[in-house]
Amino acid sequence: MGQLIVVGAQWGDEGKGKIVDLLTDFSDAVVRYQGGANAGHTLVVDKKKVVLHMIPSGILHNNVVCMIANGVVIDPELLIEEIDMLVGSGINVSKDNLKISNAAHVILPYHKLLDSYREEKRSKKIGTTQRGIGPAYEDKITRRGIRFQDFLDKTRFDQLLQQNLEYYNFLFENYFKKEALNFNTLVEKFDYYRERLSSFHENTSWLLHQYLSKGRKVLFEGAQGTLLDIDHGTYPYVTSSNTTTGGALTGTGIGPHKNISVLGICKAYTTRVGEGPFPTELNDDLGVKLRTEGAEFGSTTGRARRVGWLDIVALKYAIRINSITSIALTKLDILSALDEIKICTSYSYNGEKLNYFPNDSSILSKVECEYQSCSGWNSPIGDVKIFHDLPESAIRYIELLETLLEVPIDIVSLGPDRDKTIVRNHPFHS
Ligand code: GDP
Ligand code: IMO
Ligand code: MG
Repeated sequence: MGQLIVVGAQWGDEGKGKIVDLLTDFSDAVVRYQGGANAGHTLVVDKKKVVLHMIPSGILHNNVVCMIANGVVIDPELLIEEIDMLVGSGINVSKDNLKISNAAHVILPYHKLLDSYREEKRSKKIGTTQRGIGPAYEDKITRRGIRFQDFLDKTRFDQLLQQNLEYYNFLFENYFKKEALNFNTLVEKFDYYRERLSSFHENTSWLLHQYLSKGRKVLFEGAQGTLLDIDHGTYPYVTSSNTTTGGALTGTGIGPHKNISVLGICKAYTTRVGEGPFPTELNDDLGVKLRTEGAEFGSTTGRARRVGWLDIVALKYAIRINSITSIALTKLDILSALDEIKICTSYSYNGEKLNYFPNDSSILSKVECEYQSCSGWNSPIGDVKIFHDLPESAIRYIELLETLLEVPIDIVSLGPDRDKTIVRNHPFHS
């Protein structure tokens, strides 16, 4: 296959960064298509950890072009920090290997402030990352947004900023009773950001078409996960972009080509950061144990992740919504700590079995889960290199998932490091 879309199959933090880094070895370009610095993608190479929020997870590889496409919302301040962090660790980041779409929208300080003021005021909190994601997408949709190409043109940017500040300062002072932002301070900051970032600008949709027409391999890196999708997720406890396969198309400017595969990244259990329904959540000692074993603390905000059993109903939904062609199952090693492993195979609501994943969060928060129990393997598996060397019950667990999900599990991940991975079938080759 020429192009591979990577999507999170759950509520984010499935290990997308690790898998994208691994598959970059077989790619010519890696493209982020939605979200912004709310993402935290962790790569571990030779025990060295790098967390990326905006730059595609292909950046550690030479001879690969990384693109931040039109669907992403860019925080210039954090992007500069990320570039400096990488360059400081000896990684090359230049206009030759990082291309930023002219059409991507820019996050401004008022977006981040609005995000936090709103969370503060809400009685039912969403638990956002407070990175300004919702307000920035809102400006895009309402056509008040500032695109990367507007930001690069100082006259245009200063004018748009002035107009927008009129609106935001009114809101801050009168509705939220907060301080107004100073135009000159912002202009000065953005003059510096412009100086640092202008060389990266590109028409990434055009560039991508050049890659595709030459038959080069492109990896599309999703952020967040299916159940956080603005349309298909557990609304309103979602992020503000399309985190699913459709987002990869509109977020980059390509059509549904014939030779696209979709790899769903899925943890061997489930986690969620922030508020919202979570049918298989474990609010007991077992949950604490899984969180500790799996080091389930957010890569962006450091918040403790909520944990629960694997949810087949939600995964089948993710497979349907995304047209997932195969799965990368991550963190299987963490289940080694358990004697018994459960998977949720169906939901019931008001005593009746549900045949599908409900798109109403108030129903989802009340469903009852039916579980199938599997025996654990009680031995460490992190160093296993060949699928058939896994303990018998681990193999049975994977094969059971394949039967229930009706999709092959092509990759099994057994640790954070790149080399702790079993590739059963290469997603670029299938
Ligand atoms: P992403 O947002 O989907 O890229 O995932 P995160 O990086 O936020 O969270 C996944 C966490 O699990 C990171 O700390 C990874 O280093 C780690 N990780 C990924 N795959 C595995 C695995 O197979 N086993 C273990 N133990 N950790 C993993
Ligand atoms: P990666 O790419 C997990 C969650 C937040 C909150 C909701 C809305 O690392 O998987 P937002 O700031 O986007 O408006 O917050 O979405 N969220 C994530 N949860 N992983 C992520 O990204 C997330 N990005 C946002 O916790 O519940
Ligand atoms: Mg993450």
